[in-house]
Amino acid sequence: MAYKILKKEEIAPSVHRMVIDAPDVAKAAKAGQFIILRIDERGERIPLTITDFEKETGTVTVVFQEMGKTTKQLAKLSAGESLEDFVGPLGTPADIRKLGTVILVGGGVGVAPIYPQAKAYTKEGNRVISIIGARNKDLLILEDEMGKASTELYIATDDGSKGHHGFVTDIMKRILDSGEKVSRVVIIGPPIMMKVGAGVASPYDVEILVSLNSIMVDGTGMCGGCRVTVDGKTKFTCVDGPEFDARKVDFIELMNRLAIYRGEETKAVEKYEE
Ligand code: FES
Repeated sequence: MAYKILKKEEIAPSVHRMVIDAPDVAKAAKAGQFIILRIDERGERIPLTITDFEKETGTVTVVFQEMGKTTKQLAKLSAGESLEDFVGPLGTPADIRKLGTVILVGGGVGVAPIYPQAKAYTKEGNRVISIIGARNKDLLILEDEMGKASTELYIATDDGSKGHHGFVTDIMKRILDSGEKVSRVVIIGPPIMMKVGAGVASPYDVEILVSLNSIMVDGTGMCGGCRVTVDGKTKFTCVDGPEFDARKVDFIELMNRLAIYRGEETKAVEKYEE
């Protein structure tokens, strides 16, 4: 079965949004879940978080950054072309319910998985304070969408070209310091940002969740590639996660494992570009 690409656009340099015709996935999808796609029969399987889905139209939106061989290939496809596989929804849905005030923090392409959560938390009647950031304003994604989906939206850029000059976690700390009762913080972004964010929020009386989508390989519980240590126990991100209690995640081990994968990925890209 082929899955048609209905729309494709570059929303920031090397970051693309694709809308796929996948009614079965759209019907069952929940915020926090992901899909696995394959461009063609011999293609590598890549997991991507579901950024948006519409049950009525049967469409699923994914956002990806050109990083490895397959994402570079994917970026070359256009609307009208098809994908061989688009399997999902996979993973445990985010635990979204009425809690009161929730802070959502998204960094870089981590804003893409934060977006469906903002929509879902708002739908459940929460006060949703979203903080999104990037290295500079050109790399900032989904600003309008996040503005609509949240009660309040804050922006931070590393170079100060838009919003707060500094980190998303600075704004998060300011809100936590303000004394406002916050029930939960959800942080999604590069592992280092999640580690720093978890460290900043830890002293406060608030639940902290991170989504470790970025480290999945096959997404089926078979390869072991997504292994993480949470609370001293081995967990598989693709089946046990991707959301975990940030205070219990061993981020150092996670970052070491990712560094190993990055080396492998660079080799594959070099081969692809030869
Ligand atoms: Fe392979 Fe989870 S991604 S076991």
